[in-house]
Amino acid sequence: MTTAERTASPDALAVPAARAPGCPFDPAPGVSRAAHEEPVTRATLWDGSACWLVTRHQDVRQVLGDQRFSADAHLPGFPFLTAGGREILTGGTTFIRQDDPEHARLRRMLTADFMVRKVEAMRPEVQRLADELIDRMTDGRTSADLVTDFALPLPSLVICLLLGVPYEDHGYFQERSRILLSLRSAAEDVRTAQLELVDYLTRLAESKQDRPDDGIVSRLVARGELSFAEIATMGRLLLVAGHETTANMTALSTLALLRNPDQLARLRAQPSLVQGAVEELLRYLTIVHNGVPRVATEDIVVGGRTIRAGEGVLCTINTANRDEDVFPGGDALDVTRDARRHVAFGFGVHQCLGQPLARVELQIAVETLIRRLPGLRLDIPFEDVAYRSDMAIYGVHSLPIAW
Ligand code: HEM
Repeated sequence: MTTAERTASPDALAVPAARAPGCPFDPAPGVSRAAHEEPVTRATLWDGSACWLVTRHQDVRQVLGDQRFSADAHLPGFPFLTAGGREILTGGTTFIRQDDPEHARLRRMLTADFMVRKVEAMRPEVQRLADELIDRMTDGRTSADLVTDFALPLPSLVICLLLGVPYEDHGYFQERSRILLSLRSAAEDVRTAQLELVDYLTRLAESKQDRPDDGIVSRLVARGELSFAEIATMGRLLLVAGHETTANMTALSTLALLRNPDQLARLRAQPSLVQGAVEELLRYLTIVHNGVPRVATEDIVVGGRTIRAGEGVLCTINTANRDEDVFPGGDALDVTRDARRHVAFGFGVHQCLGQPLARVELQIAVETLIRRLPGLRLDIPFEDVAYRSDMAIYGVHSLPIAW
């Protein structure tokens, strides 16, 4: 393919597109418009190159369910959202950006750890941590930042326990995760953060040789199939994906419920709705908000348009999760909706490995917050909340609350 063919037309939609002011829970208007008018459409990336946006539920499932759409970020045409995004390739590739059979081989080493049964057994421990955090947050106080005092530490503590990473180091890996996920980070800074995290985790893996524990890193070392560097690269994916996603879902869900008091009241009145409400919040908020990237390896027709081999695709799962054919009235939050067909965790072979864990954490976080803080309210005007539009994972930078 020539450079000219890879360059978008001047009137193509530029992505990531900005959300409308005052509508922080809705996809960017340009992307929503495309979903209604031209569901498979051309878009322009930061470097002027073109990619396809696939916006409808059915088409998104087609692309993510077809491995001829590759997740391999080394392939020409793979769509990166920023120059820094390209640095995902620094310090070793993770299986989220690899295809089968290598992807399957590596993922299989972790499936037992994230199985529903295994993760459900962690419920009492996650509940204990959630209660402890709320005890500490409310001790002698009537206000706090939900992000730093609850939403971020809960999944960080859990993923540290699972991996066998010392939680005392959370400042170190959270700061580097922030750099990796910021769309504003310079490529140089992303590269450094990637390498520092891999270096940190390599040293951790080496230390498990003499002092084994029952964490994932230690078990991967004992298995003897991967080098320390490979274990570190895998650990980096789990560490970053394991705390940033659930943390942002927790804080943004709390804000969405406070903004929809009728829905919050329903949940308070009927706590058994929490499980379904979490699925609805995942659908409604879709924090992986800039799309799931793939590149076509053959010419394939999607939604009546031919995507050529070598062309990049962004599956905008946020618009798929608002698709009226699947979720009627989907622009509204409805905690009684059956939202189970959402694609907030992706679809196909790369569908989120950590989803059973994310569900347990979110169900506990939402239920505990509602139960323990009957007077929960936002402590700043709604208009003053700072959103993470500048990050790969959407959410809020902080959430001042009172009770
Ligand atoms: C993959 C979303 C929590 C680990 C994914 C993908 C999405 C996603 C959309 C698919 C990416 C793609 O197809 O390219 C979320 C959301 C979460 C969440 C919305 C929380 C609300 C977690 C947690 C972990 C985790 C807690 C735990 C470690 C992973 C891994 C993959 C993945 C390892 C790669 C799977 C593969 O390539 O086979 N996630 N995630 N995620 N997620 Fe999550």
